[in-house]
Amino acid sequence: MPESPKEKQSILITGGAGFIGSNFIPFFLDKNPDYTVVNLDKLTYAGSLDNLKEVEAHPRYTFIHGDICDFDLTKNIFIQHNISGVINFAAESHVDNSISSPNEFVKTNIEGTFNLLEIARHFWTGSNNRFHQISTDEVYGSLGSEGYFTENSKYQPNSPYSATKASSDFLVRSYYHTYGMNVVTSNCSNNYGPKQHDEKLIPTIIRSAVNGNKIPIYGNGKNVRDWLFVKDHCEGINLIFHRGKVGETYLLGGNNEYDNLTIALKVCDILDVKLPKSNGNYKDQIKFVENRLGHDFRYAIDASKISNTLGWKAKQNFDTGLEKTVQWYLDKYQQA
Ligand SMILES: NC(=O)c1ccc[n+]([C@@H]2O[C@H](COP(=O)([O-])OP(=O)(O)OC[C@H]3O[C@@H](n4cnc5c(N)ncnc54)[C@H](O)[C@@H]3O)[C@@H](O)[C@H]2O)c1
Repeated sequence: MPESPKEKQSILITGGAGFIGSNFIPFFLDKNPDYTVVNLDKLTYAGSLDNLKEVEAHPRYTFIHGDICDFDLTKNIFIQHNISGVINFAAESHVDNSISSPNEFVKTNIEGTFNLLEIARHFWTGSNNRFHQISTDEVYGSLGSEGYFTENSKYQPNSPYSATKASSDFLVRSYYHTYGMNVVTSNCSNNYGPKQHDEKLIPTIIRSAVNGNKIPIYGNGKNVRDWLFVKDHCEGINLIFHRGKVGETYLLGGNNEYDNLTIALKVCDILDVKLPKSNGNYKDQIKFVENRLGHDFRYAIDASKISNTLGWKAKQNFDTGLEKTVQWYLDKYQQA
């Protein structure tokens, strides 16, 4: 990948106003002084420019409001900004929404990725091109209580969300095999940290707790996820974008397997210390609710490939990372 530090490279980051993208852009600008960044984001309910205040006046950053499915707009961005690399974060990302209304998932996750690939194939400039697809461990389906996903695991998506992400991963793969495009894909586990949309598990627990509402937990709370601090994910993406092997896939996980009930209890314990209630504990607000349809039981990642080949390892201790995350949401709610 791009090795010429003297010439500025322009990369297109899509979906940069969402949770991971808005953590990634300031990180990337800081780590890569030879790059300019164009952020193309549709600003759906999940994206917010408030997430990007720290870079809005940055001389190497441009925001463009638009849809990755818009061929003409995206083509013009490639041409006008001499785009040589793409990191594709843009997606409909909430599994529950994909169950109630899958249409947008097919449009953005599949058609949008296809659009970007086609435009990149025809219009990107220079020889140091790279297309980095940001994907999820959910494409591999569900594990039992043992074992881990690896890069060799079979794709077995179970929700409309994971099926659309799997489809886009396959399109990316096909552009490498068919057209020799310089692609890499990374599949990561559940991220946590600042700037995540309120609809996701950890923000929902915090918001419900401090508002005195029930804290909803699906089924019996025993579904397990591996939690990765978003900053660790950003470091992994930056490494893979620059040094990942063409055509390959890398899995990233935090080695923090917890079931949903344990996550809720941990958040409640933190809140009991930071914002004690006058009577009782926050955990008293936990209520089990009807399980999500087709709810995958467990995801867990074996990240030894990226660790052995690129030297990446998640650094954030989970309890400290969760405490930082809870504090970030408390500060946000206090400012609102
Ligand atoms: N959050 C996680 O735990 C997690 C885990 C694994 C993989 N991922 C993947 O990482 C990527 C980013 O996830 P996130 O949690 O930041 O998502 P998010 O929902 O917080 O943000 C998605 C962003 O994409 C934008 N967007 C949606 N449709 C668009 C379109 N058609 N054109 C342009 N922009 C559009 C939204 O406005 C938003 O800013 C996604 O591809 C997701 O599948 C996320």
